[in-house]
Order: sequence, then structure tokens, then C-alpha cells
Amino acid sequence: MTTVSPDHVTPATPAESIAFVDLAAQHAEVAAEVVPSMDLVMQKGTFINGEEVRVFEEAWARYCGLAHTVGVANGTDALELALRAAGVGPGDEVIVPANSFIASAGAVARTGASPRFVDCDPVHLLMDPALTAAVVTARTRAVVPVHLYGQLAPMDEIRAVAEQAGLVVVEDAAQAHGASQGGRRAGSWGVAATFSFYPGKNLGAYGDAGAVGTSSAPVAQSVEALRNHGSRTRYEHPTLGFNSRLDTLQAVVLNAKLARLDRWNAARRAAADRYDQMLADVPGVTRPSTGHGNEHVWHLYVVRVPERDRVHAALHAAGVPAGIHYPTPLHLTGAFAHLGHARGDFPVAEGAAHEILSLPMHPHLSEAQQERVVAALAAALG
Ligand SMILES: Cc1ncc(COP(=O)(O)O)c(C=O)c1O
Repeated sequence: MTTVSPDHVTPATPAESIAFVDLAAQHAEVAAEVVPSMDLVMQKGTFINGEEVRVFEEAWARYCGLAHTVGVANGTDALELALRAAGVGPGDEVIVPANSFIASAGAVARTGASPRFVDCDPVHLLMDPALTAAVVTARTRAVVPVHLYGQLAPMDEIRAVAEQAGLVVVEDAAQAHGASQGGRRAGSWGVAATFSFYPGKNLGAYGDAGAVGTSSAPVAQSVEALRNHGSRTRYEHPTLGFNSRLDTLQAVVLNAKLARLDRWNAARRAAADRYDQMLADVPGVTRPSTGHGNEHVWHLYVVRVPERDRVHAALHAAGVPAGIHYPTPLHLTGAFAHLGHARGDFPVAEGAAHEILSLPMHPHLSEAQQERVVAALAAALG
């Protein structure tokens, strides 16, 4: 089995049989489609802006319930380009949760704007809307709810804050492919949503890839230009942009895997239910919970335990790859030291960072493997 080590996942050694994310099993399901289709692209030489990219963009938009999706090179670029298309730039502030992957705030900084961090709620560890209104200033232009671990942030409440303050909402849906709230999929709440197709994501490419989803034609057109040197018509550059296109070869993979995404998400949900049952009687473990109205897609199954670092090491010694998403809240990273935050500024995120532990989670995880994970966790806590 193959183990990816996205961020802060202890790599498994070859002798181990439990993968954190099993990409080989996914490939085995799609290989018969992907390999000949890639071969065709290689024969045609349509590596950039090939037909498969357009097919994927249309299929992904349909899947998300959006009018447009625009393929880009990765999820970080997707967020930067969506923010730029929404008018965010130098001098602006953008509200971002302190508990997220660095890219959520890094993309904001790359537009020239400044991230304005907000703490998470203590139960779901998602952006806390009650605290969001308090950090709005005259310079605040946008808010980026992050649908962390596979479930949506509380969008009605966040939208209410945004509407009151006149902010643009751009959803970071990198971890929430197919997730919904009140039956509405990630991406349909804000002016745009951004997706990463990093290999370990619920819908993953064979390298970096991403997309911006929106039902606004001007935002879609702006992202189309930004991803391609400011150009939507060859060699016409009314504005400057970037080189951030989605590779045709990656689109081949995404088309094949998209057809399986609902089944794979259902398998993740079944695995999460099994973990919930198996962990119910393990003392010391706080299980993750699902927010109101949410259909969770379990990108990560994150428990909270005391003495997390010791437990994490014990799991690794027992051959169980576990992860920490994420060990340092964004306001305490060196990258944002210039914002002048101190320990104690966002106590919920800081407290959680010492307790969170991501257990192996993927669509091909077996009950027997989960029993081994839970036994190792119980032994470490016992
Ligand atoms: C919440 C979140 N936002 C943004 C990103 C950035 O995506 P990418 O790695 O494709 O640039 C990721 C991916 O790792 C993520 O998890």
C-alpha cells in the first residue's frame, strides 16, 4: 500500500499494512481508464488546455451545483485567484480561521491583503461566527470560511456576519469535495469556492491541481484570465496574470475519479461510523462530531486525546500512521509573526493543537484495519 505524507503525517514503513491514505487502492480502481486516456493525451500532445480539462470543468461544476468551475494549478492558487477576482488586494483585510492549513492564510497574503485571524468553536474546530463579527474593521473586505476536515463551517451564521458588514465570502473547500449543509454543496454559499486536488484529497490528482467554483460569470471570467497570463484570447493581455493552468493529464485522472467520488465519500462515512462505534468506550478519546445540517465527507477523522504527542509516537511504534492537522495555529507560525500575535490570542485553536490526532481515513480502510488502529490507540491511552 502507498502512504502519502501530506503534512504532519508520520510515514508508514513498508512492512506496515495500514496506510493513512491508500492511493494505490484508488489507482487500482481507475487504472484501466486513466492509463489509456493518458496515453491518448500523450499521442495528441494536448498537454495544456486539452479537451479533458473542459470536460472536467463542466462535470465538476455540475457536481457542485455551480454555473462554472475553472481549473487551476493547485488549491492555493485557486484561493488566491478567487480572492483577486472578488476584488481583494493590497490594503484589505481578510478574515481567516486560525485553525487551518497555512495555504488558507498564505493565499490571502499573496494578494497583498492581510489575514485577520479568528478562533474556532470548541466542538467542531471550525471558524466561530460569533467571534467573526468582532474582528471586522473598516479595511475588512472578505471572509474565508474553511470547510475543515470535510464538513462545512456554519454558513448561515457566517453569511449573516458577511452581509451585515458588506464582506465577500470565498469558501476554502479544499477538504470538502461533495460535502453539503442543508442539502447545499460546498461552493454554493459564497461568491466563489476553491478546491485542491492534491493527491490525498477526497478527489485527488496525480500531482498538484485545483479549481475555483462560482456561479458568477464575471468571477469565472476573471479567474480564467488570471490563470493564463491575464489572457482569455490568445496573445491578448488586457491585464497581468499568472501561469496557473490545470494540466490535461491531471484532468484525465480527475474525470475518472469524479465518477467514483460519491461512492468513495460514502465509504469514508461508513468508516467514520465504525470509528465512532469502536471508540465509544475508549476512555480519554473525544470523537469528532458533525455540525448542524452537515453532510460530512470525512477528509480527516480527527479525535482529541490527552498527551497527544506521546500517543502519536506510540501509534507510530505500533505501525499505525496518524497525523496532526495542524500542530501550529496559523497566528503562531513564523510566516505570520509580523502580525504580532502572541500565545493566548486564540485559545481554542491553541488548546486543540495539543490534542488533535488524525486517524487513518480513506475509502478503502477495512474494519480489521480500524480495529487495529483503535486497539493501538486504547493501548496507548491505557
Ligand atoms: C484547507 C486547505 N486550504 C488550501 C489548501 C491548498 O491546496 P494545495 O495544496 O492544492 O495548494 C489545502 C491543501 O492542502 C487545504 O487543506
